[in-house]
Amino acid sequence: MPHPTLPYDVEAVRNDFPILHQEHHPGTPLIYLDNAASSQKPRQVIEAMNEYYRTTHSNVHRGIHKLSESATLAYEGARKKIRSFINASNWREVIFTRGTTESINLVAQTWGRANLGPGDVVVSSVMEHHANIVPWQILAAERGFSIEYIPVTSDGQLDLEVYERLLTQRSVKLVSVVHCSNVLGTVNPIADMARQAHQHGALFLADGAQSVPHMPVDVQALDVDFFVFSGHKMAGPTGIGILYAKRAILESMPPYQGGGDMIAQVTLQGSTWNELPYKFEAGTPSIAEAIGLGAAVDYLGQLGMTTIHRHEQSIIQYALERLSEIPGITVYGPDACRKGAVAAFTLERIHAHDVAQLLDADGIAVRAGHHCAMPLHQHLGVTASARASFYLYSTPSEVDKLAEALYKTRRAFAL
Ligand code: ALA
Repeated sequence: MPHPTLPYDVEAVRNDFPILHQEHHPGTPLIYLDNAASSQKPRQVIEAMNEYYRTTHSNVHRGIHKLSESATLAYEGARKKIRSFINASNWREVIFTRGTTESINLVAQTWGRANLGPGDVVVSSVMEHHANIVPWQILAAERGFSIEYIPVTSDGQLDLEVYERLLTQRSVKLVSVVHCSNVLGTVNPIADMARQAHQHGALFLADGAQSVPHMPVDVQALDVDFFVFSGHKMAGPTGIGILYAKRAILESMPPYQGGGDMIAQVTLQGSTWNELPYKFEAGTPSIAEAIGLGAAVDYLGQLGMTTIHRHEQSIIQYALERLSEIPGITVYGPDACRKGAVAAFTLERIHAHDVAQLLDADGIAVRAGHHCAMPLHQHLGVTASARASFYLYSTPSEVDKLAEALYKTRRAFAL
């Protein structure tokens, strides 16, 4: 099968990622196809963090010495880069968190705790990552609201007729749905869904962990109330993520954690809160990680998110074609033009963990299991799947090696 034409010189891009040039086992190069779990980092990100520690490290917002001022400028500079990357209307709408999971927990424990109670409904979906189910379940057990889930259709889409019915028939306060599924790859029509939610008086949270790294995202165009994502899936470091929310909503929310930096005034009788975004950033933040995420955003911006998306569309289309040749394979989710660069699959009569282990022996790193999406796997009728997930440095030759290794896996099981 001929290789697709790619929009940029992928080998030049790969040269920016030191880890991609190492051997996975002696004599076996690494083929990294576990990007939905975490992406690799270009040297520009690694160097930005090293340089910060070598020359600039100090605490932020606290000192009046030059180092602290430089660290503060670098940290706040990263926030401004991220504001522009997602087109938030104001830098105060960009809150640094530890990642997507913490961002959703923050919304649940602040906005949710203040606004949800008996009779209220939060709408989520069957294709969510656990991070967009469990925080609502924890709060629902305490506050007495209920959670309704939009089902998934046989072609891996959200059932939007049920969504419309839920909005019409129930007292929905919040819709909290994934932008791009980490298993099916489905890209959900978030802008339309948010508009519908607003027509029924509900707020809308989008989990962008698997969309922001791979496609252009404009939070104002989507008109979502909350948007959350992680740095480590978008060429940035671990331990840093973003909560974006509309300013008026953030102003109305109580703080999450108490401590330094989030206060305006403290007396022994009580405290008042700092202005946004600091109200939600208690304690010394992840300064180097924020700077690393800023460098990642620079890197992605230079390649261009539209171009990265085109590259990944070519790769996933080619991957779906190659995978469809393998006897006994089931690939989950919609066709290539309606999904991100994720292919979760099962091989008849071979457990997903065995598939992943045999692929690993050939240098190919994929994830196997439920991918933190147990309800979705229950819906699919499998306990586990193997998942190949691609990124801006993935190549058609890597897809070929995956296909060859899957034929070999079948032979190992005498199939
Ligand atoms: N959420 C990450 C994944 O899907 C960890 O693998």
